[in-house]
Amino acid sequence: MVINLQNLLDGMLQDRSWHQPDQLGRRIDMLEQCETWLVHHGDAGEPALKERIEALMLELETINQHLYQSVREDIRQGRGAASLLQWATTMPHDGEEESYDPLDALVSGVLDLAEPGDVPALEAEMVFYQPTPARHIFDFIARASIDEHDTVIDLGSGLGHVTLLTAICTPARCLGIEWQRAYVATAKQCAQALNLRNATFIAQDVRQAQLSEGTVFYLYTPFTGTMLRTVLNMLEREAKSRAIRLCTLGPCTEVIGREPWLATDDACDPRCATLFRSR
Ligand SMILES: C[S@@+](CC[C@H](N)C(=O)[O-])C[C@H]1O[C@@H](n2cnc3c(N)ncnc32)[C@H](O)[C@@H]1O
Repeated sequence: MVINLQNLLDGMLQDRSWHQPDQLGRRIDMLEQCETWLVHHGDAGEPALKERIEALMLELETINQHLYQSVREDIRQGRGAASLLQWATTMPHDGEEESYDPLDALVSGVLDLAEPGDVPALEAEMVFYQPTPARHIFDFIARASIDEHDTVIDLGSGLGHVTLLTAICTPARCLGIEWQRAYVATAKQCAQALNLRNATFIAQDVRQAQLSEGTVFYLYTPFTGTMLRTVLNMLEREAKSRAIRLCTLGPCTEVIGREPWLATDDACDPRCATLFRSR
């Protein structure tokens, strides 16, 4: 590992192209390698090498922060979709479908979500918070044909990634419903800081929510069992008065795929976003 890292550092001194803003993927990869080295060898390693690595990490992070700030400014000025989508389509991904990758690092840098306060334990059948990997959110946005007539509702919105990115990239009204108040406070703060007037968040149990405005519903397996059944019954009632669409990710996809009032052209792979439409 020491030899590899020394090679990396020497190579970076010779080829400075990683300074270019568009080399974000490379910088994130280098940061990861440096972090891994520090975790495994930081205390035992050679002090001079550790110092070089820390200086390099600071340089890499400073360049990335400038880029995140410029995307944040684009979002505040209403130019966020073009700015963010150019990255979403070009960032590398070579991991597993469920894993996080450099695009998540970009989204995290851009959203800059505050650390939420303490949260109470979840009730039975509620699934703990885990954000949808960013590439699945961009896949959903690209394939769901969302327009200005839509209201997109994330059922169990966590810290708000899906709602925030959909509000940035589409003209739809976007709503996140989340049981944990602290998560909602963080998401609201982010929407305000980014001047996103089409993103709102409500602290509520989805079972008590008013869903009559929604045209597109997003579920990253927020709950299971009878709770999921109750919410699917609510959605089925909504679908009797208008056409609705659902996007699912995770194990709930299999359950939702058996609903006779829904149709899909997707493969219902729980590892990828599946789009359903009401019949
Ligand atoms: C797997 S996370 C999904 C987060 C977010 N939708 C995303 O994709 O990034 C599930 C979230 O649903 C929330 N949740 C679970 N049951 C809920 C309920 N009945 N009403 C509202 N939120 C709920 C949890 O607190 C958690 O934040």
